[in-house]
Amino acid sequence: MSPRQPSKRLNHLSSAIFTEMAQRKQAAAKNRTVIDLGIGSPDQPPAPHLVEALVRAVQQPDAYGYPGSEGSRRFREEVARWYQYRFNVTLDPEAEVHSLMGSQDGLAHFALAWTDPGDVVLVPDPGYPIYAGSVHLAGAELYPMPLRAENGFLPDLTAIPEDIARRAKFMILNYPNNPVSAVAPLSFFEEVVRFAREHDIMVVHDLAYSEMAFDGYRPPSFLEVPGAKEVGIEFNSFSKSFNMAGCRIAYVVGNAEIIRPLAVVKSNVDYGVFTAVQEMAVEALRSDREGNNPNGVGALCQERRDALLSALAAVGWDIVPPKATMFVWAPIPEGWTSREFAFAVLEEAGVVVIPGSAFGAEGEGYVRIALVQPPEVLREAAERIGSSGVLKKGRRLAE
Ligand SMILES: Cc1ncc(COP(=O)(O)O)c(C=O)c1O
Repeated sequence: MSPRQPSKRLNHLSSAIFTEMAQRKQAAAKNRTVIDLGIGSPDQPPAPHLVEALVRAVQQPDAYGYPGSEGSRRFREEVARWYQYRFNVTLDPEAEVHSLMGSQDGLAHFALAWTDPGDVVLVPDPGYPIYAGSVHLAGAELYPMPLRAENGFLPDLTAIPEDIARRAKFMILNYPNNPVSAVAPLSFFEEVVRFAREHDIMVVHDLAYSEMAFDGYRPPSFLEVPGAKEVGIEFNSFSKSFNMAGCRIAYVVGNAEIIRPLAVVKSNVDYGVFTAVQEMAVEALRSDREGNNPNGVGALCQERRDALLSALAAVGWDIVPPKATMFVWAPIPEGWTSREFAFAVLEEAGVVVIPGSAFGAEGEGYVRIALVQPPEVLREAAERIGSSGVLKKGRRLAE
C-alpha cells in the first residue's frame, strides 16, 4: 500500500455528496444563474453593535496572547447569565461552561474524549454529518436512531435493543433539528433523562438553533429538565443565533465531569478562541438579555419560510411548515431517490438542494432546502422548480 494513502478513518466522513453537488453546481452555472439553497451558512452580517464590540476589542493590545481553550472568565460568566435568563438554568461558570471554536469543534472532539473501540454511540439518522463522523474518527461504533415523520421525528427510545443500550456511552440529540427541522417537547427530554439514568448513558444535546424559531415558539434547553445536568451536556453556538458563523465561537455547558475530558482534548489541540471574538460574543449575549436584539434571526427566517412554502404550494408542493431552524425538510415526489431528485432540481431548475440521504439512510425520500436567500429569490426558486416539471415526472431510471 502506498505510504501516501490517507487514513481509512477518512472514508467514513460524508463530504462526498456535498463535493459532488458543488461540482454539479459549477457545471450548471455555465448555462444559467444557480440559486443555492444547499449549505446552511447565514447570509446576514452580525448586528452593527456586535461588529462595533469586535472592533473595540481588536484595538486592545492585550487581546493578542493565547486566550486559553476554556474561555475567558468574562465569557463563561456571561454564558451562565444568559442561560439563567433564557432557560432558567443555573450554571457554574468555572466548571460547567467551556468555550469552543464552533460547536463543530466540540462535537468533533467529544467522541475522541469519551470512547474506545467497542463503545457504542447512539446517533440520530438523519443527522448533522459530524455526529456520525466524530464516532468514526474516534474508532467507536455507531448505532443509528431513526427519526421518522410518524414519530414526530423523535427517536423511539424503546426500540433501542438492550445490549446496545448497555454498550452505549452516549446519545446525541439535536432539537430544533438539522436537517429535519423538527422540535422536541420537554416531555421528550424527560423521557431521555429517565432512559439515560436507567442505562447509564450520557446525553449530548446540540442546541445550535435555539434562537432560530418561528411563530412565537421558544426552543427549550435540554438542561431545563430536572436531572438533565446529572446525565448530560449541551452545545450552543453564536453561528446561527447571532450570524457569527465565521467567527468560530460556541460553548458547551452542563455536567462538569462530562465536560472535563473534552476540555483535556481541547487543551491539547487548540489554545482557545481569539479574545476579541469572545468579547463580541459577550456583547451578543449581554445585549440579548437587555432586549437589544429586536430583529432576531427568527423573524428573518420566518418570512423566508413563509415565502418559500407558499410559493412551493402554489406549484403543487405542499410541505409542513417547520417551527424552527433555517431548513425545510421536504418530502419528494414518488419514484425518485433523493439524490436523483436533487440533481434533477439542479439541472432542470437551477436550484441547489441537498438530498436527504446525505444525512443518513433515513433521510431517503426527502431533500433539505436551506432558507439562505431573500424571499424574492426563494419565490423564484419555487417557480423554477414548478415550471421545470420535476414535481410531475414519475419514476426515473437509475443513472
Ligand atoms: C445542528 C448543527 N450543529 C452544529 C453546527 C455547527 O455549528 P458551529 O458553527 O457552531 O460549529 C451546525 C451548523 O450548521 C448545525 O447545523
